[in-house]
Amino acid sequence: DHKITNQAQLDEIERRLYEAGEMLAAGGTVAFPTETVYGLGADARNSKAVEAIFAAKGRPSDNPLIVHIAAMHQLEGLVTGINDTAAQLMEAFWPGPLTIVLPVLEGAVSPRVTAGLDTVAVRMPDHEVALRLIAAAGCPLAAPSANRSGRPSPTLADHVREDLGGRIDGIVDGGATGVGVESTVVLAGDDGIVTVLRPGGVTVEELAPYAKGGVELDPALRGAGLPGPVAAPRSPGMKYTHYAPKGELRVVAGSAPQVADRIQAELDAAKARGEITGVLAFDEHLPFYRADCVLSLGSLTRLETAAHRLYAALRRFDDSGVTVMLAEACPEDGLGAAVMNRLLKAAGHRIIFV
Ligand code: TXA
Ligand code: MG
Repeated sequence: DHKITNQAQLDEIERRLYEAGEMLAAGGTVAFPTETVYGLGADARNSKAVEAIFAAKGRPSDNPLIVHIAAMHQLEGLVTGINDTAAQLMEAFWPGPLTIVLPVLEGAVSPRVTAGLDTVAVRMPDHEVALRLIAAAGCPLAAPSANRSGRPSPTLADHVREDLGGRIDGIVDGGATGVGVESTVVLAGDDGIVTVLRPGGVTVEELAPYAKGGVELDPALRGAGLPGPVAAPRSPGMKYTHYAPKGELRVVAGSAPQVADRIQAELDAAKARGEITGVLAFDEHLPFYRADCVLSLGSLTRLETAAHRLYAALRRFDDSGVTVMLAEACPEDGLGAAVMNRLLKAAGHRIIFV
């Protein structure tokens, strides 16, 4: 009977969440789904547990972690103050893919979480499993993306198993994540200025109505057209080359026909050198390309699809042994800002303008 099967599945999920919660409470590391990407969680107050996250990921220790909460009352024990702008952002976007950097209450979390900063990055994920797991653990969870450092973030439990299998205490499988790129990280100034430190699931356009002083981009988030990083990023993680595929990836930007011609020319030249070629393109142009591995980011008119598919596509190239990849750039409005940010990082900022 359908209903009983459902109940059995619910009981099973309940049991697994309970077990995972116990593991976390005891100082273990457990990977879990969020609406953005899978996270690798540990009790944010427990330095040994947090240490285990860095060890499993091979993550540089000067890169602070996001603390995940399931209820507003958990903020009381974490931060010293919430200004009006931060409060309005929480009201508007939590639970959801927005991380807010707040003044940390001394001693509230392990110094390993904040990497010695006097702020802590906090978010409330919009995912039933994540929220229930945090509640089951009974503590705020420090959780970076559940990938080996330098690999694309995981959007499936299988990606977590590939990267961290045997290195962590558990994985809660909640199927594919939704957004597909990480949360937007912001500072909410007392002057009403919202500064985006990392573009992500909440767009600049969505933030604007809540930023009385306007939305600014951290100067380190240069647009594709500007040369070189102009300042040390205030979100320490942004300085690392992340998401790098094993082969060489370059992004091509410009008007559509020239982009397609240039990409195909690069693919043909690479093929002639004996490379295994890959192309990452939008549906509108997909039929033009000949390569060993042709992957779609969906339609240019729906960049949510591109965000959802990006990391899995980069992993697919790796799995297919692709050695030279070309990707089409996309417009940087809406979710396109996060897609281009991640794509350019994956490409080590190698971009060709045509
Ligand atoms: O969607 C997400 O945010 C995912 C899921 C699992 O929640 N998590 C995630 O965590 O992307 P991670 O560790 O991969 O990225 C955390 C980012 C880094 O860029 C880090 O530098 C920044 O947040 N960050 C953390 N604490 C900060 C702080 N106190 N001040 C400025 N930036 C901070
Ligand atoms: Mg990450």
